[in-house]
Amino acid sequence: MLKKLALGAAFALALAPAASFAAPDGEPYVEDFAFSFEGPFGKYDQNQLQRGLQVYTEVCAVCHGLRYVPLRTLSAESGPGIPEEQVRAYAAENFEVFDEELDDFRPATPTDHFPQVTSVGAPDLSLMAKARAGFHGPYGLGINQLIKGIGGAEYIASLLAGYTGEEKEEAGVILYENTAFPGGWISMAPPLSDELVEYADGSANDLNNLSEDVAAFLMWTAEPKMMARKQAGFVGVFFLTVLSVLLYLTNKRLWAPVKGKKD
Ligand code: HEC
Repeated sequence: MLKKLALGAAFALALAPAASFAAPDGEPYVEDFAFSFEGPFGKYDQNQLQRGLQVYTEVCAVCHGLRYVPLRTLSAESGPGIPEEQVRAYAAENFEVFDEELDDFRPATPTDHFPQVTSVGAPDLSLMAKARAGFHGPYGLGINQLIKGIGGAEYIASLLAGYTGEEKEEAGVILYENTAFPGGWISMAPPLSDELVEYADGSANDLNNLSEDVAAFLMWTAEPKMMARKQAGFVGVFFLTVLSVLLYLTNKRLWAPVKGKKD
């Protein structure tokens, strides 16, 4: 029985690569960007999150919503850290929400979420950086994240910077060639280009910078508590290490009278 199972598993493993390699355009390419939040001690770069928010607001928000993200979280210390009054002004200036009590639209407040946008059928980006994290690496095993720290943010940045400039029309839809998108052709027109967004602090804003900044911001929307999680993990590992040492010493001490005898 066990042997049969093992054989079956080996067989399935042997077949899997063949199936996933069947895509005609080859393996999508995801570049390994060095984000500040990678590694066990990585942290979000507040300035980068703020720049990413600007890119999202000026460019992506036309087509993509962020409906799971409350606007008030923009002032989180572990996130973009924008002062509360500024968040209030930002919400009112940029977004309108439908208020059931008023039966009308009103400017958004920090207690609202970013709006949902469905007009062009673009997916919601709130959790995109997590949704796409697991599918990279050889044979789609997702081990790039484990080995190289390549995750959803890398994918998004590569996607935005991965257009080749080729287009084709298929069934009335224009598709754009993209080296990061699985299958190679995406229906989203290249949203970013060099210097499309001007940063207030004059930060570099070529295509790669803009892509990385908005990807970092989307990583934060998908995992706003990443830093707290890493810290909790670290504290956990630390205490377990101390506990292991104590248990080892206790064990030695308890067994000493028995094990100490050589005869
Ligand atoms: C003109 C509308 C439009 C704009 C502007 C736009 N997108 Fe898109 N986006 C789309 C559409 C449509 C899709 C679905 C494409 C598909 O599945 O072929 C999409 C898909 C995506 C995806 C998912 C790709 C996947 O793996 O399924 C990501 C990530 C994304 N967009 C990010 C962005 C970011 C970041 C911006 C801003 C810099 C942006 N988009 C701006 C229309 C837009």
